[in-house]
Amino acid sequence: MPDRYAVIGHPIAHSKSPLIHGLFAQAAGQDMVYEAIDGGAGADGFARALAAFRAAGGRGLNVTLPFKLAALQAADAASDDARLAGAANALRFDGGRIEARNFDGIGLVRDIEVNLRRPLQGQAVLVLGAGGATRGALLPLARAGAARIVVANRTADKAAALAAELAPHAGACALNGGGFDALQGAFDVVINATSASLSGAAPPVPASAFAPGALAYDMVYGKGLTPFLRAAQQAGAAQVADGVGMLVEQAAEAFAWWRGVRPDTRAALARLTVPLA
Ligand code: ATR
Repeated sequence: MPDRYAVIGHPIAHSKSPLIHGLFAQAAGQDMVYEAIDGGAGADGFARALAAFRAAGGRGLNVTLPFKLAALQAADAASDDARLAGAANALRFDGGRIEARNFDGIGLVRDIEVNLRRPLQGQAVLVLGAGGATRGALLPLARAGAARIVVANRTADKAAALAAELAPHAGACALNGGGFDALQGAFDVVINATSASLSGAAPPVPASAFAPGALAYDMVYGKGLTPFLRAAQQAGAAQVADGVGMLVEQAAEAFAWWRGVRPDTRAALARLTVPLA
């Protein structure tokens, strides 16, 4: 019997995770199946689906919206990344215990450093937005060696509070937050972690925020050149990327955690990449 894994969310039909993990399993020669589970809209849907999947012999789950907090709460043990992000995106079932991790931030870092070849050591990083996506990204960016990180958000207080909460964990990285109008200086990497691209909008980031040669990164994927990426190009950003690599790399981290084998991500990246035009 192949080992069973799945992604759980609501809705879930759009998820690329079954395709990605199918390609990983093929490339790594792993005997496993990977399905998609809709946890439903009800409050206890996640708990019921989790129990049923474990009872059926499931070995691990990826977790997406809106269950990332519920997944963390269901776990017996969680990594620092998951606890500080307040969310889990991967679970592993180990001898009756549930372990939780959050690989979103490390997936982002690996995409920037490995796929896009932009080492973060010493870099100035601007992160737009102060929601869950930003919360999961900040400490992995700091750990990768960013010299400073500024969080800018439409609601300035949210950015300031998030930066203040996580700054004690950011080591040598200077982490600050505030509103867009308080932004000063230029950044080597500008990451859009707002949900603005989903509604065809762009966060109000000034052109002066892009340093010469800057990388502009939008966490959404499959939407082509988003308004943010277009504005970044006009502001002189040298390199633009969407979040397809983050999606694939966080999946690779989960796969390696479950199977003990790091999958080659190139086939999945090639299959899912949509031209930025
Ligand atoms: P996620 O978990 O994806 O981060 P979220 O927690 O709902 O989602 O956060 C969405 C983020 O996108 C917030 O920072 C939000 O700004 P506010 O805190 O001011 O609401 C930001 N956002 C959404 N639409 C935006 C827009 N059109 N322009 C700028 N920021 C936007």
